[in-house]
Amino acid sequence: MTAYPFDLDRYDGRMKYRRSGKSGLKLPVISLGLWHNFGDVDDQSTAQSILRGAFDAGITHFDLANNYGPPSGSAESNFGKLFKQDFTAHRHELVISTKAGYLMWDGPYGEWGSRKYILNSLEQSLQRMQMDHVDIFYHHRPDPDTPLEESMGALATAVQQGKALYAGISNYPADQAAEAFRILQEMDTPCLIHQPRYSLLDRSIENGLTEVLDTHGVGCITYSPLAQGQLTNRYLEGIPSNSRAGKSSGFLKESEVKGNIGQIRNLLPIAEARGQSLAQMALAWTLANPTVTSTLIGASSIEQLKENLQCLKNLDFSAEEMTRINSSFIKV
Ligand SMILES: NC(=O)c1ccc[n+]([C@@H]2O[C@H](COP(=O)([O-])OP(=O)(O)OC[C@H]3O[C@@H](n4cnc5c(N)ncnc54)[C@H](OP(=O)(O)O)[C@@H]3O)[C@@H](O)[C@H]2O)c1
Repeated sequence: MTAYPFDLDRYDGRMKYRRSGKSGLKLPVISLGLWHNFGDVDDQSTAQSILRGAFDAGITHFDLANNYGPPSGSAESNFGKLFKQDFTAHRHELVISTKAGYLMWDGPYGEWGSRKYILNSLEQSLQRMQMDHVDIFYHHRPDPDTPLEESMGALATAVQQGKALYAGISNYPADQAAEAFRILQEMDTPCLIHQPRYSLLDRSIENGLTEVLDTHGVGCITYSPLAQGQLTNRYLEGIPSNSRAGKSSGFLKESEVKGNIGQIRNLLPIAEARGQSLAQMALAWTLANPTVTSTLIGASSIEQLKENLQCLKNLDFSAEEMTRINSSFIKV
């Protein structure tokens, strides 16, 4: 089989790379997530074209989790197959992450934060992806019933075993994140990165979390920067049947889109005045936060990916534009 001819100019400067906190690892400012569009329900030739297009554009980070699909686990299995076809010779150029935290199997050890669950889940993820290690291994959500030392200890063990190069956490609120960073530091496994949700429609990380990340020198990769597609032109004329909100396998609810559409329309003229699509402005906006290392997008087609990547042409916001954006949220 002939190897796919990746663009030899993929590191020509179009993609920017930022250091994750105070670590040595740089990530592309746009990373690609495989939560949707890579499961068994999805077209695998489209999935392949998205991965190829991403790497061609300098996206060196692919993000997965044990439960991505549907069905759960299938995104990792499908990624493993596509990786083998196209990326084996490029493994050292890629940062691949996975996570454990959500339900994966029946019985008392199939979710949350026990050492038993986290380390068994990582074994399964590696088997599905046909890899001997991931670059970043995350605890996907805090567990209210397991000592934080146990969950963080499992991440540290994964790193000590060489099954992950770095540890990360996701969806931890500021106070628990600070405690997790302290515990991991004591275990000589500094936390590389936190993965919270962040977009023009959800700015909650600005209420304390970004300060904690800056203080501890931990990176930040923000997920759902397009609010699952709401901050694009996708829903301006209603809910398309092939959209995330229109599909039964999607996690976005029609009611959420209907609740936000007025606000989304308010943002359109601001994006237009910047010479950007709404999606491009929404992505650039997340990257304007100095704490953010990378913004983690999804795409259901290569066309969406290409449109989104054009945000890199204008990442700067004037004070006036920021004021316009902020005041567009004021309810009358
Ligand atoms: N840690 C966590 O708990 C967590 C949670 C969620 C996500 N994540 C990570 O973050 C990644 C990204 O999340 P996300 O997929 O919600 O991100 P997103 O970028 O906010 O949404 C992606 C979706 O928006 C639509 N879209 C993208 N570009 C578009 C464009 N130019 N025009 C129209 N529609 C467009 C597509 O949906 P359609 O199907 O409608 O085309 C696409 O699948 C995930 O894959 C995962 O890796 C992590």
